[in-house]
Parts: sequence; C-alpha cells; structure tokens
Amino acid sequence: MKIATIVGARPQFIKAAAVSRVLRKKKDVREVLIHTGQHFDDNMSKIFFEELEIPQPDYHLGIHSLKHGAMTGRMLEAIEEVLLKELPDAVMVYGDTNSTIAGALAAKKLHLKVAHVEAGMRSFNMRMPEEINRVLTDRISDLLFCSTKDAEQNLKREGYEHMDCCIIRSGDVMYDAALYYAKRAQRSSDILKRIPFSDFVLCTLHREENTDDEATLKRIISALTKIHSAIPVVLPLHPRTRKNFDRFGITCPLHLIEPVGYLDMLTLTSHSKMVITDSGGLQKEAFFFHKHCITLREETEWVELVDLGINRLAGTKEKKILKAFHSFIEKPFKTKASPYGKGDASEKIVKALLAT
Ligand code: UD1
Ligand code: UDP
Repeated sequence: MKIATIVGARPQFIKAAAVSRVLRKKKDVREVLIHTGQHFDDNMSKIFFEELEIPQPDYHLGIHSLKHGAMTGRMLEAIEEVLLKELPDAVMVYGDTNSTIAGALAAKKLHLKVAHVEAGMRSFNMRMPEEINRVLTDRISDLLFCSTKDAEQNLKREGYEHMDCCIIRSGDVMYDAALYYAKRAQRSSDILKRIPFSDFVLCTLHREENTDDEATLKRIISALTKIHSAIPVVLPLHPRTRKNFDRFGITCPLHLIEPVGYLDMLTLTSHSKMVITDSGGLQKEAFFFHKHCITLREETEWVELVDLGINRLAGTKEKKILKAFHSFIEKPFKTKASPYGKGDASEKIVKALLAT
C-alpha cells in the first residue's frame, strides 16, 4: 500500500511525525512524503525533520510566501503532478493550513482516497483562513479522523453521517506526539539554560487576524507588556509576527527568542507558569502539561478546554487579557478529564487507513 502524506507548516510536521512513526513500522506500506514548502526557515521546518526523525521529504515543492490564492493554487498544481506520478492508495492531510486544502483537493480530483486528520474542528468564524480550509477539506475527505467528541458532533450536525465518507473518533495525534517526544525533550533539550528566568509565562502569537492588523497587534503587545512587568513573558517569535513588528514599528519589550524546535517548546511549556497564545496546538499542549491557557481569540476549536475552565478566551482586549491573567496566575490547575484520547490516536488512524 502506498500512502502519500502532505505537510507544509510547523504543526503538520509534528502531527505527521506521530502518524508516520506508526505507519512506517507496518509491513508492505510505503509512505511518500510531500513537503509543500509553506514553512521554509530552518527553525520552522528543517529542525522538526531532524528532531522528530521524520525522513527527508520525497518531494519538496518550495512554495511559500504568497497570498492565499497564489499559494494554494501553485500547491494544487504541483501536488497534482506528484500524485499523478505516484498514484498512491490514499492521501493523508493534516489540520487546516493552505497545504491541507491544496493536498486534499488535488487528491480528490484524481479520485484518490483522502484521509483528513483533525477533521470536524470548527471555530464557526468563516473569516479565518483556517476555517475555510477545514470546512472544505472535510467535505472532500473520505476518512475523517476526529480528535474530539465535539469534532465528531460538528460533522454529524453538518450531515456527514449521510454522506459517502467515514467518521472515526481517533483521539488527538498531538497528544501522542507530546507523550512520546516529552521523554526525549527531558534528555536533550537545554532551552532552560538559555532562558534567564526560572518563572515565566510562555506566549506565542501568529494568527493572521491578530498580527496583520496594527491596532490589534499593538493592543495585544500592550497587555503582554503589563504582564511582563509582573512575570517575564517568553515569546518565540513566528516570522509573520516579526515581519509585522517591523512593518508597524513595534518595539516589543518581552523576552523575544527565535522560533524553537518542538523539544525545546515542550520543555518551555512544561516549565512555564501559564501559557498565553493564539495557537491551536499550544492550547492543547498547555493542557497536556497541566498549565492554564489564555487564548488570544474570541473563539476556539478546542472548546472542551474552555468548558473545563482551564482555558479562557480573552480575545484581544487588554482588560480581558489582564483579568484572565490575574484569575489564573495563582490558581491550582485541576482537572481529571482526558478529552484527547489515550495517546493511541496514531495507532487507530493507521489501523483504519490500512483496513480501507
Ligand atoms: C500557517 C497557517 C496557520 C498555522 C501556521 C502555523 C495557513 C492559512 N496558515 O500560518 O493555520 O497556524 O502556519 O505556524 O496555512 N514565513 C517565513 N518563514 C517561514 C514560514 C513563514 O518567513 O518558515 C513568513 C512567510 O513568508 C509569510 C508569513 O511568514 O510572510 C506567513 O507565512 P504563511 O505560511 O503564509 O502563514 P502562517 O502565518 O505561517
Ligand atoms: N511550536 C514549536 N516552536 C515554536 C512555536 C510552536 O515547536 O517556536 C510548536 C507548538 O508546540 C505546537 C505547534 O508548533 O506543537 C503549533 O504550531 P503553531 O502554533 O505554529 O500552529 P497552530 O497549532 O496554531 O496551527
């Protein structure tokens, strides 16, 4: 059986690493890895391949730094050529990036089986590029692997039960990844030696709606600066955000570092006092390591964390962010819930994939 895996952006390397580790142990399975090139800096791409021991991509398409239409269009064209040459039995796509929708669409038009990992996630905000990618990818996928009960319910509510596809609640592959790689991080990450504080808040910020609008970005930085005066805020800076700091002339007094690899990120998360982020993946990782999370968005796909009271949606208003910070900083983290499965999502995904 030949499986083509499409990756392109940082979170997809982590998700695909978890599944590939299982897939590549199976007899008579060949994985063809296609990297669209969406993320291309060494610390946004190469480091993940090295640390997570993902094999070198069979194809590297080198498509990046374009507007949505141009990026997705060029990916579609290039992925189609590869799929026509390889004719895999199934195509795996992950998450909600432009690489995801391009991979799914190229495959579906060639009548290849499409498997979507992290299907059914919804923010119900169609202004988010990711929401558009999610909804469209789900609609043309044959196997829909859901991380959570809520995701499965979203699909059922949208009528997927009556469509020609298969919904499987697998659990979340990022949980598998966090469990597996946290042990490695303990052995090999030395990031704490490079952070001059023992107590710190970990922050990431990269969503288009937060970073491309000057007023919004300035408001968020102003709130974070106030938090920084109480406890240092460590911010591994996404290139999109760095570019916008330059564009808007923002000087940021937080403890800025370059984007770090996954093992360092797991170490930072597990040693932080709290997480503040607009990332999808990091909201879950905060939970995996029992940290409260302030989400710099008005809505989240990971609603169960909000329902559990351990993730607060603070949006981008300074007052709300500071209020959430003060309510979480001394609060003990308490929950026994496990909404993301048992850490065996990758096993379930591979089993279902090979059975079809
Ligand atoms: C993309 C995804 C987003 C995901 C994020 C993960 C889409 C629509 N968005 O957003 O869902 O959460 O990845 O991090 O697919 N850049 C560099 N070097 C890099 C990568 C990006 O300089 O290695 C620059 C690009 O040139 C561009 C900007 O960062 O100017 C944004 O990159 P892009 O891939 O368009 O989107 P992300 O914000 O990374
Ligand atoms: N991450 C990382 N280094 C960083 C920032 C994030 O390894 O400097 C990891 C993070 O721990 C998570 C994943 O990247 O596993 C999430 O990616 P990102 O926030 O870029 O995207 P999203 O999850 O929002 O799509």
